[in-house]
Amino acid sequence: EKGGWDSFMDKEIHEDPAAVQRTLIGRMSDDGTIHLDEVHIDEHELKAVDKIIVVACGTASYAGMVAKYAIEHWVRVPVEVELAHEFRYRDPILTPRTLVVAISQSGETMDTLMALRHAREQGSKVLAICNTQGASIARESDAVLYTHAGPEVAVASTKAFVAQITAAYILGLYLAQLKGTVFRDEIRNTFDQLQAMPRKIQWVLDTQPSTIEQAAVQLADARSFLFLGRHVGYPVAMEGALKLKEIAYTFTEGFAAGELKHGPIALVDEGEPIVFIVPPARGRNVLHAKVLSGIEEVKARGAYIIAVAEVGDKDVERYADVIFWRPECPTLMSPLVDVVPLQLFAMDMAKQKGYDVDKPRNLAKSVTVE
Ligand code: BG6
Repeated sequence: EKGGWDSFMDKEIHEDPAAVQRTLIGRMSDDGTIHLDEVHIDEHELKAVDKIIVVACGTASYAGMVAKYAIEHWVRVPVEVELAHEFRYRDPILTPRTLVVAISQSGETMDTLMALRHAREQGSKVLAICNTQGASIARESDAVLYTHAGPEVAVASTKAFVAQITAAYILGLYLAQLKGTVFRDEIRNTFDQLQAMPRKIQWVLDTQPSTIEQAAVQLADARSFLFLGRHVGYPVAMEGALKLKEIAYTFTEGFAAGELKHGPIALVDEGEPIVFIVPPARGRNVLHAKVLSGIEEVKARGAYIIAVAEVGDKDVERYADVIFWRPECPTLMSPLVDVVPLQLFAMDMAKQKGYDVDKPRNLAKSVTVE
């Protein structure tokens, strides 16, 4: 059933493009309107939503963090992202106008299930973004938006992550349409950008693996890694760090790149590997310059720089020791491609170290205890 791949993880990373593509199917009609067939919350209630709280654990929580940037930008409604186990026990402010979005691949994560039960008891509506038909989290929510990543077998989540971002973006565009915060042409244009992403992910899968594998061979013995990104690159950095912890048992920390000077730079020593998610340089993107100055800072202290950067980024070429290239795409779409080399890198690192990439020690695919 691994279909010729030597692990489920390898197979499932190669299904990233299909996971995005299938999650988009049937969402946009010819007249440029977004549809959410499975959602069963009244349109008026959705229109009245004045706060969104994403609850999730692990990888799903990082998909939620990515979605926050897009949804706030499009819908102009505040979005909080909270780990489900923290949310449940802190007396969060919930009203009938709060939409809680529970993101879960398995749909059985007990922490997330308890969080959504609490939200419903307080009178808020809950929408699940779930990959498993009929799972507890889907059944107990007011509405479901299914991701269509297909069954995910490897314990560390890969294709579900890109599908979760895609589904959350569709929800964001739908809410923007309802509230009238984005022009219809722009909604269609953004949806087209989403539809272009499977091809861009495929480009990474076709062209980058040998660079990634060489980097893993060279860095397999590194004792720790830092992952840094800004804006949507920040949750991508967190997810890249999590993958490497989970699969290769390497000590990693993910940070917002702007925090570097406020503490983490003290960790930087000769040869320390640091992964930077570099935003697109086009349009004189101010974030690009900021991330670049972080790279310069740590390079001056002898760090070993691994960058995820846009094809043709000459500034990055000047400083980075290794570059995993991304094809051109808008900043909000970049997480869908940027996570892919990090998934491959974690897998290659684990293989170098001789670990079972599908069944990492101490972890379970779905954690059904609190
Ligand atoms: C963890 C898994 O226990 O649960 C992670 O090891 C996963 O890979 C997290 O991201 C959340 O799982 P789910 O099924 O709720 O998305």
